[in-house]
Amino acid sequence: MLHAHTSNQTAPQQHPRDWAKATDKELIAHVLERYHVRHREQLPELIRLAEKVERVHAEHPDVPTGLAAHLVNMLQELESHMQKEEHILFPMILRGQKTMAVGPISVMESEHVQHMEALQKMLMLAHQLQMPEAACNSWRALYAGAHELRDDLMEHIRLENKFLFQQSASSAEHGCCGGCGGR
Ligand SMILES: [Fe+2]
Ligand SMILES: [Fe+2]
Repeated sequence: MLHAHTSNQTAPQQHPRDWAKATDKELIAHVLERYHVRHREQLPELIRLAEKVERVHAEHPDVPTGLAAHLVNMLQELESHMQKEEHILFPMILRGQKTMAVGPISVMESEHVQHMEALQKMLMLAHQLQMPEAACNSWRALYAGAHELRDDLMEHIRLENKFLFQQSASSAEHGCCGGCGGR
């Protein structure tokens, strides 16, 4: 009985939203709120933790040397990327100009590839997030947060590439530059 009672305490499973059926406006609101805002909170905190772990455990054989500097670089790259989306690309999409945004979209897609490479480097510097025995709380928080950043950034990129940056079926029919008269 106790077991059944305990399992009833768990939060109800939420079905993940089918973003293929969402409008661009809904997708953009979700991306901004769930990922852009979150990355701007996550990375400064991870930088703070990495600087602390690298300083306090400088002599430890598993210390993630260079991680803080790499995270600073990731924050700068992501900030620049997100600002381009927020100020240029997303407003174009919201104005219904996605077919004219082929250039900005391909720039964003290639920056996504660079973000994935930056995540790989983060994991390499952090020894694949393998926690050393008797790691302190800061080290645990650093690796747990890096894990969360990896999952969040991968999902952020997946939603943009797979749903937001794709031309809709109706616009794809007229997805040329217009020079052929839409034939
Ligand atoms: Fe984004
Ligand atoms: Fe993006």
